[in-house]
Amino acid sequence: MIDGRTQLYGVMGNPVRHSLSPIIHNGAFKRLGLNAVYLAFEVQDLKEAVRGIRGLGLCGVSVTMPFKTAVIPYLDRLDPTAEKIQSVNTITNRQGLLTGYSTDGRGAVEALEGKIPLQGKRVFLLGAGGAARAMAFSLKERGCAIALFNRSADKGLALAKELGIEFVALPSPSLGGWKAEVIINATSVGMHPHEDQSPIAQEDLQPGVTVMDIVYRPLRTRLLKEAENQGCQTIDGLEMLAQQGAAQFEIWTGLRPEIEPIKKDLRQILIAR
Ligand code: ATR
Repeated sequence: MIDGRTQLYGVMGNPVRHSLSPIIHNGAFKRLGLNAVYLAFEVQDLKEAVRGIRGLGLCGVSVTMPFKTAVIPYLDRLDPTAEKIQSVNTITNRQGLLTGYSTDGRGAVEALEGKIPLQGKRVFLLGAGGAARAMAFSLKERGCAIALFNRSADKGLALAKELGIEFVALPSPSLGGWKAEVIINATSVGMHPHEDQSPIAQEDLQPGVTVMDIVYRPLRTRLLKEAENQGCQTIDGLEMLAQQGAAQFEIWTGLRPEIEPIKKDLRQILIAR
């Protein structure tokens, strides 16, 4: 029951009405019996919104598009990962001290580690936006060898250089003697309403490779369907979404929520939409 002691959490974004974060966190609060609610805030004035976190004593806030980098100047501290990638998707409020974290890379890595050990794996990463950037740092920390492709070569090259990883000019996960063991789509290619698109040709998907897509609308993207046809192991976008949310929840509460009910709730919502 919501009462005088209920703790408030939320997500700041714009647009934000379609955010799935309230589903993740309210479900987990309920299952763990915590007196807390999580709402979506469509923010116009970011600076004022951050003042509101302190002023009203919100316990924790998620940050989404387009504020993940813009929010940084208004925070008191960044954890080392958020500092490195210059992106924040999670804020904690400890007695008015606001600290920024990013769980995007951790979410991706944990989604993969649910299926395969990552240490030393050869990863072909598509994209150079915020999601790809967070993933690339986390994958590198896990000791993966990464080859990166991006449609805009200048952006891809800049990220590859920053990380000391290889940039490749074609979306091909097999280059010379180098064969990817993991392929990750961190672009929006294949997302509704462009379900007919895939970032990689089907014949380039070799049997036994693990293919992960961050796109979750639709859940079974063309990339994942073709990967299955080729005998690849697949991981859909819902997996990473659930994992990055669970990591946020753990940062705020110190409790690790069960992942399966989160995925079940998300799947239900996505199928209904
Ligand atoms: P996010 O924060 O979700 O990563 P983003 O920063 O806008 O979003 O990045 C989107 C990524 O998808 C980029 O790598 C983008 O490639 P460009 O840098 O060339 O723009 C990629 N992307 C989006 N639409 C694409 C398309 N139709 N074909 C290829 N890549 C695409």
